[in-house]
Amino acid sequence: MPGAGGARGARLRGTFAMAKPVFILNGPNLNLLGQRETGIYGSQTLSGIESMCRDKAAASGLEVDFRQTNHEGELVEWIQLAANAACAVILNAGAYTHTSVAIHDALRSLEVPVIEVHLSNIFSREPFRHHSYVSPVARGIICGFGPKGYELALEALQDTLAAK
Ligand code: DQA
Repeated sequence: MPGAGGARGARLRGTFAMAKPVFILNGPNLNLLGQRETGIYGSQTLSGIESMCRDKAAASGLEVDFRQTNHEGELVEWIQLAANAACAVILNAGAYTHTSVAIHDALRSLEVPVIEVHLSNIFSREPFRHHSYVSPVARGIICGFGPKGYELALEALQDTLAAK
C-alpha cells in the first residue's frame, strides 16, 4: 500500500515540494473568522482552517506556511518572499482583493503558481466584490465553498506541482 497521498504524494515528497512550503496567505479581517458575519463566513476560526490545511497538506507531503495580516504592505512583502521561499501561494487577500494594485503587481512577478481563494462567493455578493485584482494573475480561483475552498486549493496544487 502506498503511504499517505498515494503515488502522487510520493512523487511530490520526492521533489522540491518538500524543500519549500506552500504559502497560505490571508488578508484583513480574516483573523476574525468565527465571530465576524458568521452568516456569510461560517463559524470556523482561522486557526481551525490552518489545522485543516496542515492535515490536508501533510497527506501529500506538502509543507504549509500559514499567515494572516491586516496590512497590505505586509502581504506584498510575503508575496515577494514567496518568489524564493515557496513552491506555490494560496491567497485569500480579503478586501484587498478588490482594491490592491500593489498586490496585483507583486503577484505578477511570481513564477510559482498562485491560487485565489474566498470563503464566500464574491460574485453573488455586492457589485464591488465582483472585481478581483488577484484573478488575472492567479492560476485559478475557488470561492463560495467556505473553509473547504482551502482544501480544494491544496488539491489543485498537488496536480499542478506534480505536473511540473
Ligand atoms: C473574502 C471576500 C472579500 O470580499 C471580503 O472582503 C473578505 C473575505 C472571502 O473569503 O469570502 O474579507 O475574501
